Amino acid sequence: MKVLITGGAGFLGQRLARELLARGQIKGPNGQPETITELVLLDVVRATGFDGDARVRAEVGDIADRAVLERVIDTQTQTIFHLAAVVSGQAEADFELGMRINLDASRELLETCRLLGHKPRVVFTSSVAVYGGALPAVVQNDTALNPQSSYGMQKAVAELLLNDYARRGFVDGRVLRLPTISVRPGKPNAAASSFASGIIREPLNGETSVCPVAGSTRLWLLSPRKAIECLIAGCELDAAALGLQRVVNLPGLSVSVDEMLDALREVAGEAVVARVEWQADPRVEKIVGSWPGQWDTTRARQLGLTGDASFADVIRSYLEDERISVR
Ligand SMILES: NC(=O)c1ccc[n+]([C@@H]2O[C@H](COP(=O)([O-])OP(=O)(O)OC[C@H]3O[C@@H](n4cnc5c(N)ncnc54)[C@H](O)[C@@H]3O)[C@@H](O)[C@H]2O)c1
Repeated sequence: MKVLITGGAGFLGQRLARELLARGQIKGPNGQPETITELVLLDVVRATGFDGDARVRAEVGDIADRAVLERVIDTQTQTIFHLAAVVSGQAEADFELGMRINLDASRELLETCRLLGHKPRVVFTSSVAVYGGALPAVVQNDTALNPQSSYGMQKAVAELLLNDYARRGFVDGRVLRLPTISVRPGKPNAAASSFASGIIREPLNGETSVCPVAGSTRLWLLSPRKAIECLIAGCELDAAALGLQRVVNLPGLSVSVDEMLDALREVAGEAVVARVEWQADPRVEKIVGSWPGQWDTTRARQLGLTGDASFADVIRSYLEDERISVR
């Protein structure tokens, strides 16, 4: 099977690629495992770290460019993980960029598939940011979308597009709404939720970190490990089990910032927690405060998708994955 990951040099794209290569196979549309013969990683920057693996083709190109899409998608491309995006803070700061990458390019990708006519599986990563406004305490799979950021709007429109392309039989689409991913390794990024990793990662690294929201702010989180498991399991879901509703809210953990720091205290001690400083940032509070802190995961669980057991476990899996010892 030929698999494409757009955003293949990104945080989740790289991890997904490594996991797919390690497994060597993925279930095909008939539910039977198929060997991954080619893995195309499309990104504006070259995906590195895969040299020597003959299955990997790292392609550099702009996903909003139809010619690039036609170069990386052909009738052999049976599975597409569409991850390329600009993150929330960036899409808010640069409206045109967000529209071009998060929305226009998603439509171009779906159009490329429709015109080829081979009905590939397309897994699209959506976000908590599609919700907003006055929300119920627990958001349901079908709670009305009411994004309060351009990023959320772009994800919501792309979800609707994918659902309709699936209904029309142009693609076998799956929209997986991801909770905020934490703990994300590396450096802070332009996502409004960047602090949700920073307040854990930096203190564990011996550095201070500024928390821009109140301790009572509730977040809906998923570890990178579980996110990758869910992306693959979501791709492998039986199309009949999804029916016409292609959107699945992935299972997360509902934790307040204070509870996150309690978990950090449990795993790493008070001295590490003391490295968190507080400085409210109204821009971040406005965006993150509009996101739901918990959603109903009945559908995800019925489909066999599972999340993390506790946030302390999430921190422990971060330490293990990144081979970090507590300082
Ligand atoms: N990480 C999270 O907390 C989170 C939460 C919800 C949803 N998501 C979604 O999951 C997906 C992956 O997120 P991530 O955390 O890996 O983000 P990321 O920023 O690390 O990866 C996105 C990748 O897309 C690439 N990209 C941007 N513009 C491009 C273009 N024009 N052409 C080709 N590639 C381009 C970037 O270079 C980057 O490598 C995104 O769609 C994101 O919106 C992430």
